[in-house]
Amino acid sequence: MKQYLHVDEWSIIEEGFDAHTHELSESIFSIGNGYMGQRANFEEAYSGASLQGSYMAGVYYPDKTRVGWWKNGYPEYFAKVLNSTNWIGIGVEIDGEPLDLYKVKVHDFVRTLHMKEGYLSRRFTATLEGGKEVQIDAIRFVSAKRQEIGAIRYSITPLNFTGKVKLTPYLDGDVANKDSNYDEKFWLEVSKGSDEAKAHLTVKTKKLDFHVTSVMTYAVTKGGQSVSVTPEQEEREKFVAHSFTVDAAQGEELVLYKYVANVTSRNYGLGQLLPTAEKLAGDAKIAGFAALLQEQTDAWAHSWEESDIIIEGDPSAQQAIRFNIFQLNQTYSGEDDRLNIGPKGFTGEKYGGSTYWDTEAYCVPFYLSTHDPAISRNLLIYRYKHLEKAKENARKLGFKKGALYPMVTMNGEECHNEWEITFEEIHRNGAIAHAIYNYVNYTGDKAYLGQYGLEVLAEISRFWEERVHFTANKGQYVMLGVTGPNEYENNVNNNWYTNRIAVWTMEYTLEALAYLKEQEPSRYTELVDRIQLTEEETAKWQDIIARMYYPSDEERGIFLQQDGFLDKELIPVKELGAENLPINQKWSWDRILRSCYIKQADVLQGLYFLGDRYDLETKKRNFDFYEPLTVHESSLSPCVHAIIACELGYQEKAYEMYLRTARLDLDNYNNDTEDGCHITSMAGTWMAVVHGFGGLRVKDDRLVLNPFVPGHWTSFSFKVVFRGALLKVNVTSDTIEISNQTGVPAALLVGGQEHTLEANGTWKQERVTA
Ligand code: BGC
Repeated sequence: MKQYLHVDEWSIIEEGFDAHTHELSESIFSIGNGYMGQRANFEEAYSGASLQGSYMAGVYYPDKTRVGWWKNGYPEYFAKVLNSTNWIGIGVEIDGEPLDLYKVKVHDFVRTLHMKEGYLSRRFTATLEGGKEVQIDAIRFVSAKRQEIGAIRYSITPLNFTGKVKLTPYLDGDVANKDSNYDEKFWLEVSKGSDEAKAHLTVKTKKLDFHVTSVMTYAVTKGGQSVSVTPEQEEREKFVAHSFTVDAAQGEELVLYKYVANVTSRNYGLGQLLPTAEKLAGDAKIAGFAALLQEQTDAWAHSWEESDIIIEGDPSAQQAIRFNIFQLNQTYSGEDDRLNIGPKGFTGEKYGGSTYWDTEAYCVPFYLSTHDPAISRNLLIYRYKHLEKAKENARKLGFKKGALYPMVTMNGEECHNEWEITFEEIHRNGAIAHAIYNYVNYTGDKAYLGQYGLEVLAEISRFWEERVHFTANKGQYVMLGVTGPNEYENNVNNNWYTNRIAVWTMEYTLEALAYLKEQEPSRYTELVDRIQLTEEETAKWQDIIARMYYPSDEERGIFLQQDGFLDKELIPVKELGAENLPINQKWSWDRILRSCYIKQADVLQGLYFLGDRYDLETKKRNFDFYEPLTVHESSLSPCVHAIIACELGYQEKAYEMYLRTARLDLDNYNNDTEDGCHITSMAGTWMAVVHGFGGLRVKDDRLVLNPFVPGHWTSFSFKVVFRGALLKVNVTSDTIEISNQTGVPAALLVGGQEHTLEANGTWKQERVTA
C-alpha cells in the first residue's frame, strides 16, 4: 500500500507523476454524472500502462459466457458496461515532437480532483527530448446539469521557445473492454463525418444495437484571444479527428476548448441521435467553458447541501468521507429507473458494471437519507421491472413458482456463472425484500406496497416457500445447499442469515398484505386476484415462520453461521500472521473453504438488517464470536461490523472498522483499486458514519439518533433528508444539535428522548449516550 495522495478536505491531490501508480490514479480521479463516466486518462497520448475507460450508463454488451465446466442453468452471457468512444482525446505535437507523458520528462505534476466543484485538473511541465519545455494545464468535467456534455479546457504554454503546436482533438470508437471474454471488440461503425467546426462519430454494438453518437465542437484561444483555425480532417475506421497547427510564442498560453455531446439510442430514436448531439455540443460551445463550469459548481454545491458530512479534527477522515460521497453522487443520479449502481461505477470494468445485492443492502440507505425519496424509489422500481425475468429465472432453475432475482444483472437476466453463487447465493432475494421495507419505513410511503412492493415481496416469499423443505428428521423446515454472504463457505446447510432473511421476508409480506387489506381493500383484492395468491400459500408461510430451523449454540448463546460451523478449528485472524493475509491471495481455495475465516459479515449482516429484533446482549455475543474470525476480504464487510460495534459501545473497534472502509481506495488498501474504485462499499462508509457513529435508524415514523464522536474526531455533522425535512445533525463530545433547514417539522427520538423539531427550528441536547 503506497500513500501518495495529499490529504486535503475538499480535494484529492497527486503531486509528482509516477507511471507505476498511474492506473490507480486513473480510477481514483474518475469523473461521472450518473449518465456517463470517465477514468482519469490523459487527453494527450500516453504509451505507458493505462486502462482507457469512457462508460455510458446502461450501454452494455452480452459477452458470451466463458467457463471451464458448463453447468445447466448457467447464463449464456455476462453483461458488461462497455468502454465507449474515447471522447477526451487530444493529440499534441510540439514542433513535430509528440507529447507523451511516458516518454518526456515531467516536472511539477499535480493532478487534482476538485470534489466541491466537480471537476478534474492536471498541471505539469514537460521537457521534450530536444529540450523544449511546455506547461500544460488541463481541466475537464462531465456536466451534472447537461448530462450528455463533457467539456475540456486544455492549455499549452511554451516556456523556453517559440514554435508550432499541432493539436488534434478526436473521437475514437475503436476501443475495447479489457475484460472481454474472447478478446473481441464490441463496436461497429455506423457513420462519421465533419465540417469546418465539428466532427461526429456514431458507433453501434455488434449485439443489442445500442447506438452511441458523439459530436465534438471546439474553440481555440491564444493569449486570451480567439483564434480561427482551418482544420485538416482525418478519418479512419471508427475514428474522426481535426488537426490544426498554431504558432505559439514563448510565454503565450494557447487553449483548446473541446465540447463533446455523447447521446445514445437508449434515450433517442436513431434518426434523432446526430441532430440532438449536434445541437447539444453546439449549445455547450455557445455557453462557453466558464459558464459550463459555473453550472457544474452550482450543481455540486446543491448536491453537497444535501449529502455532505463534516468531520472536525481529522482531515484524512474528512477527505475520505467526502471522496466516498462524491463518487456515489457521480455514479447514480437516480432519474432513470433503468439504471443501477455497478460495484465499480464508472471507474473500471470489473464486475461488468452490473447490479448486485450491493445496491439494496448498502446503497439504498445512502440515497434514502441524502436525496429525494424518488431516487431510491427508482432503485426499487428497477427490480420491480425485472420481476418477470426473476420469475423466469426461478423457472429456469426448476422452481414452479416465485421469483429469484439474479446475483448479477443488467436487464433482469442472470449473468453470473459460478454455480455456488449463481444457484446458491440466494440470500440476495432477501436484500431486495428488505430494501422495500427500508424504503417504506424510512419514507412512510406505504402506498408503494400496493403499487409495486407487495407483488415483489409475494413472489420472493413464494420462492422461499419452495426453496425450504420440511424435514421429519428435525420436525422443522430447513434450507440446504446455499452460500451465505460469506463466500468463503459454499454449499452449506442452513446458513443462519439466509434462513432468517427468508422467514423475515414472509413475515413482512404477511404484515404488508394485512395492511393493504385493511387500508386499501380494493387494491388488495385486485393484487391477490392478479397474482392468484391463495390462503393455502399464506398459511404455508405462517407454518414456515413458526417452524423454521435456525442453527445456534446454546452454550455460547450465538447463532451459528451454518450447520457444523463449530466443528471448524477456531483460530482468530490475529493469530494468523501477516504472511497469510489476505487469505484469498495466499491460500488455496480448498484451505479457505475448510477454514473458519469469514469473508464478510454474515450472521452480523442479519443482526444489522433486523437490528430491532435482537437485544444488545445477543448482538454482543455474536459480535464477540464472529468479529475475530472475520478477514473482511470483501469491501462490504467492515461497515456492518463498524455499525454493530457502535451499538455495542466498542468505539475503538468501530473506528478501526470505519478506517478500513473509508480510505479503502485512497490508500489502495486491497491493492486492487487500479481495476476501479469500490463504489458500492463507499455507501457502506457513509453508513458507518451515519448509522454507526450517528446511530441513525427510523422507528415508528421517527428518526432515531444515538450518536457519539469517535475519540479521534472533535466533532462531526451530517445532513439527512427525512420525510420532507432536511436536517443537519451536529455531534460534539458534549452536545447534539439538530437543525431543521426546511419548513417541515420532523419527529425525532434522540438518545431516548422524543422531540418534534419544528420547521426551521434547532434543538440542542447534552449528549446522553456513550
Ligand atoms: C462480495 C459480494 C458482492 C460482490 C460485488 C463480492 O466480493 O462477496 O457480496 O456482491 O463482491 O461487490
